[in-house]
Amino acid sequence: MASTNHFQCIFLAFLFVLGVLSSQASSRLLNEQTMLEMHEQWMARHGRIYKDVEEKNTRFQVFKDNVQHINAFNEGVDRAYKLHVNQFADLTDEEFRASRTGYKKQPTKVTSISKPTSFRYANVTDVPPTIDWREKGAVTPVKNQGQCGCCWAFSAVAAMEGINQLKNGNLISLSEQELVDCNVDNNGCGGGSMDTAFQFIKQNNGLTTEDNYPYVGQDGTCDSTQVTTSAAMITGYEDVASNNEQALLQAVANQPISVAIEGSGSDFKFYSSGVFTGNCGTNLDHAVTIIGYGATSDGTKYWLVKNSWGSGWGENGYMKIKRDVAANEGLCGIAMQASYPIMFEDDKDSVMCHHPNENDVDSFVLLEHEGSWM
Ligand SMILES: *[C@@H]1O[C@H](CO)[C@@H](O)[C@H](O)[C@H]1NC(C)=O
Repeated sequence: MASTNHFQCIFLAFLFVLGVLSSQASSRLLNEQTMLEMHEQWMARHGRIYKDVEEKNTRFQVFKDNVQHINAFNEGVDRAYKLHVNQFADLTDEEFRASRTGYKKQPTKVTSISKPTSFRYANVTDVPPTIDWREKGAVTPVKNQGQCGCCWAFSAVAAMEGINQLKNGNLISLSEQELVDCNVDNNGCGGGSMDTAFQFIKQNNGLTTEDNYPYVGQDGTCDSTQVTTSAAMITGYEDVASNNEQALLQAVANQPISVAIEGSGSDFKFYSSGVFTGNCGTNLDHAVTIIGYGATSDGTKYWLVKNSWGSGWGENGYMKIKRDVAANEGLCGIAMQASYPIMFEDDKDSVMCHHPNENDVDSFVLLEHEGSWM
């Protein structure tokens, strides 16, 4: 009798284990099914088409890993920011870094890049508690670099659009493609740096408009008929003192600033909203533009960053990233390689000529005066 009970016990336990296992298997299947449906919907939303079933399966595995990471993050400890299954959800970190970033401190054949020495905002004390250069009309709509590692061009152009509006009162969308095609010291979709771009823009006597030389998102030959129609120019550029968020603040209080950043981590690329607080290192591989700063109602200080991954990424294309962190480099290295274009020396005799029709950017001209462009 005792032994029969014993067997019954074991048998019931066996059934129980079987039941648990099969219910786990079915919930796994269900998850797999849900995930497949999510992938289909995501493909439709982002117009993604794979060449065959094999590629689709491979992409699905990457998608699944990314979705699981994003869900686990959002369900985990409440952090200051959220992640989102965005257009990058079927890319591995490696693929993402190769095709959507593109900052290189030393592009291919840098030869005669003269390092700037001065930092004109070193003694600035008028630093408002918040700045948003969008509110001053100095920021063009968010652009999208697509599958081309030329973040450096977008960062440099956004900083230049900013200073041009602040100095001349006209917000003119300028050409990244001109930099990609014509700035041969940088490496087009293969990466580059903003300082090299500023140097080129100065020597090139400016940049033409986005409309004149539209973005195509791949390397091309320099269209020499377009490069002569300059819409804005700069007289040079300066670097912000490195690893110094206070210096960066003084600079951003005066104009939008180009910065390099580590932007390829899986939290960064899936950022959706809030103040980004990591996780990232200081391996600078991406470039963006700081267009302001501020603090949340709970006092968390942040930089306001314009990215070039379209308006579907982050907060309508923008990111808030934690400011004044313990590390001198800033979060994700944001204070390591900041720089900005300058546009006229402080010259009281500056003469600027606008065509009577201010909207006609082609007729916007600058006069050369005593050897320097004003
Ligand atoms: C800042 O102040 C110091 C000390 O007065 C001065 O030597 C320096 O030239 C100033 N820098 C700028 C950029 O004005």
